[in-house]
Amino acid sequence: MVFKAALTLLSLAASATLSNAVNFGATGYVDVAVYGGTPDGKAAGILYGVPNQVAYDPNTAPSFPDSLATDAGITYVRTGGAQTPYPGWGMQANRGNYQGYEKRFASSLENYRSARRWGAKVVLLPHDIWGGDAYADLQKGEWPCDNGDCSEYGRFLDRLIADLKSNSMVEGLAIDIWNEPDGYGFWPRSQDQFHQMYSFSFNKFRSAFPTSSGVLLQGPATEQPPGANNGWWQAHGAYLQKNPSVIPDVYSYHALIGRYAADCGNDPVTMQQDFDALRGKYGLPIRPVQINEFAYKDEQTPGYYAWFISRLERVGVSGLRANWGSRVGLHNDLARLLLPSSDGKSWSKLGEWHVAQYYRKTQTGKITLAGAAGSKCFDLYVTQDRSAGRVNILAGVRGQEGPYPINVKNVRNMPQFANLNALRATIKEIPFNNLGAVSAPTILQNAASVPIDGNGWVNFNLTLKLDSAYTIDLFA
Ligand SMILES: *[C@@H]1O[C@H](CO)[C@@H](O)[C@H](O)[C@H]1NC(C)=O
Repeated sequence: MVFKAALTLLSLAASATLSNAVNFGATGYVDVAVYGGTPDGKAAGILYGVPNQVAYDPNTAPSFPDSLATDAGITYVRTGGAQTPYPGWGMQANRGNYQGYEKRFASSLENYRSARRWGAKVVLLPHDIWGGDAYADLQKGEWPCDNGDCSEYGRFLDRLIADLKSNSMVEGLAIDIWNEPDGYGFWPRSQDQFHQMYSFSFNKFRSAFPTSSGVLLQGPATEQPPGANNGWWQAHGAYLQKNPSVIPDVYSYHALIGRYAADCGNDPVTMQQDFDALRGKYGLPIRPVQINEFAYKDEQTPGYYAWFISRLERVGVSGLRANWGSRVGLHNDLARLLLPSSDGKSWSKLGEWHVAQYYRKTQTGKITLAGAAGSKCFDLYVTQDRSAGRVNILAGVRGQEGPYPINVKNVRNMPQFANLNALRATIKEIPFNNLGAVSAPTILQNAASVPIDGNGWVNFNLTLKLDSAYTIDLFA
């Protein structure tokens, strides 16, 4: 989530090739006659990004308007006091100083309270409260279960569990046991030591928070997604198979490969197929999956965000936007849905904020069958509301430009459309604007009449701009 400086430089160097984006060609489809699930904002989570006093110390944190989060319908906040100006427990406690722990816990608690006020769930990151976020020199501190001794880490977990309980920080809580244990930045130790720490933590948390408490235990939150060629994941699958009592309530991993992933990769659909294969190979049970950091920073644009939403919804995986900020910048922009003003006291909306708002506030009713044939680079997320007589289409693309035909089939299945020969359509573009403020989506067509063809379809042919998302509202 942070410390990707080397990768960033590589990405900048490669940006010259950006304008050569290939159009792989695809046709989008919607079937108004097939609908079902109720939208629950699976893909509207964020990693950090929520202002809290500790992150702004020694300055005063600005007051943050709740509506910026509630209008974007944030569903998950993942937090743990990272990058605040206090080292965590593991960097101080062995010298008798608990201030860093207390500050990082206070930061987490304030974020928890904000999230719960917004109706969002919380994913807690104990590794950050321990101080495993590379704020201090990685090699200076103590890491859980160093030299086979988990006792100091056990004292940390006991204190953390007591503080969670005494602060009523339990409802809506999930605990991600450790972040990115497959990467040096967050776990400069062996996989065997990770497994020792993981089981030790899991058992302590589970005895404090039995399944009946509703607290979910998650893992392993890897930097690399599961796959047949991923030795770390294969070893982890075998470990869980041998130790079924520590199989997590929610499996977690990250999707951070970036826009240059070959063949429209970094794809939650492909990752879920790989995960299911691995799960089957090691006889692990089906449980919910969370990709709790998705999109490398060059994938944080409206077009990619809409595509990620569609892909996550397609496989029923919850998703939290990655956060590429550090220090205060990790805590101040809802994982780059917002643009803080230069004095840090007010915020403008970025294009992606409007994608979230459309997804969460306009796309109500029932999820409707939709997709794109011909390429993984295109997808659609579609809802319909039969009480209001409307269909709402979010068109996401992964780095594509040019034409995108979309056929909306069986429109007369909607009772309000049954006797019509034309519908009205409002089409909007949500631009990237190079990370500049976007006050509102751009209206391309306002309530324009579109004919229903001889098949009972309504047909569109969008002209995509790179990085833009598009919305189509259909009504009588
Ligand atoms: C969409 O528009 C493009 C460019 O204007 C055109 O080449 C293509 O044939 C159109 N596709 C459909 C299905 O109308």
